[in-house]
Amino acid sequence: MTIPYSMNWSTGAFPLVRPPSGVARPRLAFLGTGYLGATYAICFAELGYEVLGFDIDEAKIAKLAAGQVPFHEPGLDELLRGNLASGRLRFTTSYAEVADFADVHFICVGTPQRADGMGADLSYVEASVTNLARHLRRRALIVGKSTVPVGTAQWVEQLVAKHTDPALQVEVAWSPEFLQEGFAVEDVLRPNRIVVGVKSDWANGMLYAAHKGVFDLAATEDREVPLVVTDFATAELVKVAANAFLATKISFINAMAEVCEVAGGDVTQLAKAIGYDPRIGNRFLQAGVGFGGGCLPKDIRAFQARAQELGAGEALRFLHEVDLVNLRRRSRVVQLAADLLGRPSGPAGPDLGGTRIAVLGAAFKPNSDDVRDSPSLAVAATLAKAGADVRVYDPQGTENARAAQPQLTYAGSMTEAVTGAELVCVLTEWAEFRNADPVTLGKLVARKLVIDGRNCLDAPLWAASGWTYRGLGRPQPVV
Ligand code: UGA
Repeated sequence: MTIPYSMNWSTGAFPLVRPPSGVARPRLAFLGTGYLGATYAICFAELGYEVLGFDIDEAKIAKLAAGQVPFHEPGLDELLRGNLASGRLRFTTSYAEVADFADVHFICVGTPQRADGMGADLSYVEASVTNLARHLRRRALIVGKSTVPVGTAQWVEQLVAKHTDPALQVEVAWSPEFLQEGFAVEDVLRPNRIVVGVKSDWANGMLYAAHKGVFDLAATEDREVPLVVTDFATAELVKVAANAFLATKISFINAMAEVCEVAGGDVTQLAKAIGYDPRIGNRFLQAGVGFGGGCLPKDIRAFQARAQELGAGEALRFLHEVDLVNLRRRSRVVQLAADLLGRPSGPAGPDLGGTRIAVLGAAFKPNSDDVRDSPSLAVAATLAKAGADVRVYDPQGTENARAAQPQLTYAGSMTEAVTGAELVCVLTEWAEFRNADPVTLGKLVARKLVIDGRNCLDAPLWAASGWTYRGLGRPQPVV
């Protein structure tokens, strides 16, 4: 059987496959209602599909069913409530209900870093696929969305074969997601591309039917959604390759920041200048305290681990350097803090005992409450460990930060965090911090020392207001 690799779904030339449930549009299930699955479930209901969201976490499902998104994502709350009210969107903790309902089952569970190494923990993928497969009573398509090591789709196919009746002809496909926290609704409704790994025309047709709403929306807005139809391995690799590239781009500019620091250059100017070259582009060239979150750090580690297993470890050795450059930026902030506060550094790091430091930002990036592998929170914890009295403030991430680092002190506002501080560290570029008035803040602090860990403040303005300003990879501003 030939797969129409170049077939462009948006031409409308692609044949629509009849969903096994007998309804006109396939019914969709999203298994795992974390950040990825909940966003997809809500947005696909918005596109007009009948959707069932599944999770084993009863508290999470109860919250979603009651119209509350369990995390911070702009625009998602209203969409959730609207689609619950329309009746198109429901949530469940029952595999039997999911199996009975859907034609296409999207696997959206987490694939965290394994506790015993750099590889990905696939136990949630295994549990969701196995339990779903055991309950299937008619033909269906199981589509992996989670970020996984290459080879996982084939293994999922074997799991499905083991746990379903072959007469049902249940099939597997892979379709990675590329959504960014803070822009997730747009990224799902108006994706910059769709990638599918399929093995049959039927799977391809079902996926087309399951995405027709995305293409129809694009058509009404006179947009094209690029599509890549490919094999399993390529589809899996596209996702990790994309994240590896983004991580490399960030570490590249942070490596330039390191050089600027010793050579007396300004990395923000450098980034701007190289970014004008369209072959380089100016996005993802913001030097600062580095990348964090639930994706980039763990994905580059899992990618290296998998390449090593496959005998191509050397090809990805540079990702180890990407990781190291990234982590060195966190140490750099701690070092800068010690320098500014005039504290000596021994072999165990600086002694910051008796100092008061305000850390502005706990989320791994603005417009998110996610603190997984957050550079800001990691730096806050290191400063506290070095003896500083640290007050952390984040507009949305405090609850998650407190759960992750309960030993830290959290402030209820920026004002509370900075009052009496000898040093202010801006480590997540929330608009509230970017737009803060240095004169007003200057009246609250004990000393006007600021580290701009995201190069997001107006350096000359802060300097002119009497602050000693330090960015990353930048010289001190001339007053
Ligand atoms: C990332 C990818 O950007 C998405 O395309 C992908 O779908 C997602 O992972 C995933 O695998 O699910 P996300 O984790 O939401 O998305 O965050 P990014 O916007 O990529 O930012 C990652 C980190 O890099 C943040 O800590 C951010 O502050 C940092 N960053 C970003 C920089 O330090 N400099 C930059 O120029 C850009």
